[in-house]
Amino acid sequence: MKCKRCAAKATVQLRSHNSAFCKDCFVFFFQRSVERSIDVSGGKDSLALWDTLVALGYQTEGLYLGLGIGDYSSASERKVSSYAAARALPLRIVRLEEEGDGLAIPEAAFFTRRQPCAACGTFKRHYFDRAALDGGFAVLATGHNLDDEAARLLGNVLHWQLPYLAKRQPVLAPTHAKFARKVRPLYRTSEYETAVYAFLRGIDYVVEECPNSHGATQLVYKELLNRLEETMPGSKLAFVSDFLRHAQPLFAGSSDNPPGDCARCGMPAFADICGYCRLVGEIERRRSQAVANS
Ligand code: FES
Ligand code: ZN
Repeated sequence: MKCKRCAAKATVQLRSHNSAFCKDCFVFFFQRSVERSIDVSGGKDSLALWDTLVALGYQTEGLYLGLGIGDYSSASERKVSSYAAARALPLRIVRLEEEGDGLAIPEAAFFTRRQPCAACGTFKRHYFDRAALDGGFAVLATGHNLDDEAARLLGNVLHWQLPYLAKRQPVLAPTHAKFARKVRPLYRTSEYETAVYAFLRGIDYVVEECPNSHGATQLVYKELLNRLEETMPGSKLAFVSDFLRHAQPLFAGSSDNPPGDCARCGMPAFADICGYCRLVGEIERRRSQAVANS
């Protein structure tokens, strides 16, 4: 098979794009698709994203949020740190276990008696927003890829979650002075493509999935979409891009009202206190009850 761009021998075949590329042309194709996403508006996925943003000349700083999930977190932190050190890139590290007692994901899940991913999502949002604010960054870019986008979109559609559908865009303008613009430049790039890119660029990343992801709803959606993609290549990309083109604007009016300020931490909040502070308050309460009873 020949490279679509230069006609040399192809090393990567992309059935969803009906294309094949040699190593250099694939790297070019990948970086161009990320660049386009930025122009439109603004593990491996994050590192592939970081690598590409740097290659495209963007000024960046990495944020690693340690979730306190045993070996998985320590291995992830090691990989990110050595990636940044080898390229002399600035990296901030925030570790949940150092932010407060009981905040590491396994403990947070234990005290709140909820799925680890619930606390994880709330913490990630808060610490990413906080780091962008503290660092004075205008843009917060995350490595969500096409597979993540398609799985989330499917979940939102199955439950007709209108406010989420309203926000399901690759670029989100800030709705509060303390928010940065949020961009997901990999939203058109499949998990397979980011894995190939990371491999071709010699990026060493954590291959294991988070141990809590087994049985998570997102994974069920991903498997369903993979089966669809298997028989109809290009389905995921069409699902996400056609949604953005035709349906997303129809949901734009369903957004929540703009957030106010959290009475506890001062970050944007949709109620008196923000979701993060509610969660931390719950953990603190349950934790002190457990200590009192012990
Ligand atoms: Fe969030 Fe695993 S619980 S990444
Ligand atoms: Zn708060």
